[in-house]
Amino acid sequence: MAVDTSKKNELPGWPGLEHIWLPYAQMKTAAPPLPVVRTQGSRIVLADGRELIDGIASWWTACHGYNQPHIRHTVAKQLKQMPHVMFGGLAHEPALTLARRLAALLPGNLSRVFFSDSGSVAIEVALKMAAQYWINQGQRERTQFIAFKDGYHGDTTGAMAVSDPHAGMHSIYRGLMPQHVIAELPADDASAAAIEALVTRRGGDIAGIIVEPLVQGAGGMKFHDAAVLKRLRALADKHDLLLIFDEVFTGFGRTGKMFACEAAGVTPDMVALSKALTGGTLPLAATVATRKVFDAFWSDDPKKALMHGPSYMANALACAAANASLDLFETEPRLQQVATISSAMLEGLEPCRGMPGVKDVRVKGAIGVVEMDAIDNLDALRARFVAEGVFVRPFGNIVYLTPAFTISKDELKTLTDAVVKVVRERKQ
Ligand SMILES: Cc1ncc(COP(=O)(O)O)c(C=O)c1O
Repeated sequence: MAVDTSKKNELPGWPGLEHIWLPYAQMKTAAPPLPVVRTQGSRIVLADGRELIDGIASWWTACHGYNQPHIRHTVAKQLKQMPHVMFGGLAHEPALTLARRLAALLPGNLSRVFFSDSGSVAIEVALKMAAQYWINQGQRERTQFIAFKDGYHGDTTGAMAVSDPHAGMHSIYRGLMPQHVIAELPADDASAAAIEALVTRRGGDIAGIIVEPLVQGAGGMKFHDAAVLKRLRALADKHDLLLIFDEVFTGFGRTGKMFACEAAGVTPDMVALSKALTGGTLPLAATVATRKVFDAFWSDDPKKALMHGPSYMANALACAAANASLDLFETEPRLQQVATISSAMLEGLEPCRGMPGVKDVRVKGAIGVVEMDAIDNLDALRARFVAEGVFVRPFGNIVYLTPAFTISKDELKTLTDAVVKVVRERKQ
């Protein structure tokens, strides 16, 4: 039977929604998206003139707020000169400058930068690099990864395969994915012993360990401490495995330090970056490898080269935006702002603790979380927040805030007050 999908969810004055496939949405029942005409600072302006205070910073990307003048100016200048040129056989100054700056900012000798265009692809590249690190040394059987329960690393096939199939929303795609090992994070002696036993048993087919350091984001905004990462580093060292940190969410100040690896005092063998890399303006990602990893590819043998090269790799506009974003981290007190946001969220969300239906309230850096026992109607809850004049996008059983670091005190209070109000009324 033919289904007429043409009429549903049209936006006033903007034909075309019937040709759009929305993310993470059952298209038949999804609430229509809100029509946005403008953004500024921490505000999203809708077509009907309403302004929403943004609690999410566009999926954790827009760390300096929207329309940041220095980023706009830098990108406009780059646009005039050269928006894009392929990165095969050619190079340009914004990419080289960015690579040099990232290498200087990251700990240890994380110093070789491979650019791509999304967090998921940065993970794919990390997995390929790790597997080939071993292939290049004659160990072809090392193709498996240890990843973690509640982990999320993206929506492409390789990234899905190292995500928790349930927390990562990907269980129905199981048949598509290579099977890896999903373990418990070594948060205590028992789980540390379990993972040690697992690696000892499996050993020879494991290429590496992949983890979101300090915060598991899309899998439930779960926090762990530096000791977990130290144990993973020790495990990787003992069994000669590569340790990959996925800092797509945690990178660029979100947990309070520039990078979670720095906060934890642990240097991985590879790190994946994206999201706030360009301050939320243009798609760009980076997989950064240590000297040790890079050296395994350094050879006269062409077969030892990394066979990867996205068309828009190191896009010049995106690299210019990322350089401008790094300028702002240097010239403006971003990490201090994160600390201020952290204290304000702790105080502002505290009233939720102990409310009926609330399981936990937690804050790390500029991430504030109210974990509910369950949320039965996410669309209704999201709409309720819009009615309060804020854009907050709960998922699973999580209501959370990840605002821009430049959000004003009053705007942040409006956000936390809205969360408290909406969470309180849910169980009345
Ligand atoms: C930790 C982590 N890794 C990878 C990704 C995937 O990034 P992208 O959506 O840019 O592909 C995400 C996205 O939310 C993420 O949070």
